[in-house]
Amino acid sequence: MRLTYFGHSCFLLETTKARLVLDPFFTGNPACKTNVADIACDYVLLSHAHEDHSGDALALSKRCGATIIAVYELAEYFAAQGGKTHGLGLGGGFNFPFGRVKLTLAHHTSSVEAGLKPIYLGAPAGLLISADGKHVYHAGDTALFMDMQLIGRAGLDLALLPIGDNFTMGPDDALEALGYLKPKLAVPMHYNTWPIIAQDAADFARRADLKGHAVKSLRPGETLDF
Ligand code: NI
Ligand code: MN
Repeated sequence: MRLTYFGHSCFLLETTKARLVLDPFFTGNPACKTNVADIACDYVLLSHAHEDHSGDALALSKRCGATIIAVYELAEYFAAQGGKTHGLGLGGGFNFPFGRVKLTLAHHTSSVEAGLKPIYLGAPAGLLISADGKHVYHAGDTALFMDMQLIGRAGLDLALLPIGDNFTMGPDDALEALGYLKPKLAVPMHYNTWPIIAQDAADFARRADLKGHAVKSLRPGETLDF
């Protein structure tokens, strides 16, 4: 499998059968130099509604004919705007032609801005993707929680974990998450996009290494084969 990072929590995951974009945030992402118009994909997977995770979902769905996979309320929100969608509930999974996607717990919120009051669009989620004999976990935006141990039971080849602090867990809690998830490799995300979530990814990788966990930070635009 091939993973390409676009900054923040936005990735392209290429399996043998499909191209999946996870948490599309190309437009307005200060860490991303790629134009969303240059992205081709078959599926768009969303952890939650916040615009730094779902901002380009509808455009990708419409232009590429890509199916948006998200929690039911968020899927319906995009379906009502002409997107192609597949809704799931937390703990539920579905076997797509390329592999399986299961939504896992995440402790966060999920809304879009709409004037004075945000519109809440169901629960936030993590994404557990199984394809080509590998298991990949995208934690979305979340706090640390002990049930990550249940997610780790899948036997994770790769975990994408937020380390930015302020909106999500920071490096200390992400280190503890590694102990619960026990992935073969982890890639940090949701940091350095803005000053408020500035983090030292190299220091995080060093501290993880001391605890026996492999961490590889990716620069925006960088690709990882695993
Ligand atoms: Ni969020
Ligand atoms: Mn976020």
